[in-house]
Amino acid sequence: MNAWNEGYFTDSTYTYGYYRELSPNFMRWCLLLKGIAAPEISETSCHCELGYGQGVSANIHAAATPGKYFATDFNPAHAAQANELVEASGANAKFFEDSFEEFSKRDDLPQFDSIGLHGIWTWVSAENRKHILDIARRHLKSGGMFYNSYNCLPGWSPNAPLRELLSLFDRYKVDRGGVISNSA
Ligand SMILES: C[S@@+](CC[C@H](N)C(=O)[O-])C[C@H]1O[C@@H](n2cnc3c(N)ncnc32)[C@H](O)[C@@H]1O
Repeated sequence: MNAWNEGYFTDSTYTYGYYRELSPNFMRWCLLLKGIAAPEISETSCHCELGYGQGVSANIHAAATPGKYFATDFNPAHAAQANELVEASGANAKFFEDSFEEFSKRDDLPQFDSIGLHGIWTWVSAENRKHILDIARRHLKSGGMFYNSYNCLPGWSPNAPLRELLSLFDRYKVDRGGVISNSA
């Protein structure tokens, strides 16, 4: 695919959500509760978020957690918003505008103590999932933390009819004159 959005819907920008699961401190806490060793978080730690949306979570975590943050999202409007927030907070964070493929090929990234992605895995192509795995393979420290949220049927089934309806609307759009057009 040649378009920068690789088929991903970019007609509007994403919501301004905050997700504590992406916090390296929260990841560490969950692992320790399960008796699993997790890296200490210090000023020398490096953390990464993939597909940061408006950058709300990444900015809050960068401002509130010791260490340096790296994050990428290929939507230029998201990058502009995330960079505006980091300029205001002065947090130690770098927001890239790379696709996952571009980010996976960078040779200027450190080894990360944590990599997190929320609301990505089930929304991107199989090819992009491979790029995400490449990023983890190349850049996650041995013993580092990887958090990946994904949608599954039991949790999403109540929303499935609405999703289907919106998908049908996108396929059979009705213009103002009431004419139905099939864009499929
Ligand atoms: C469903 S949103 C989730 C945003 C954010 N993680 C959150 O939970 O608020 C998915 C995000 O992934 C980004 N994205 C999708 N495909 C991408 C790709 N191939 N490379 C980089 N970013 C991508 C989109 O721009 C969007 O911001």
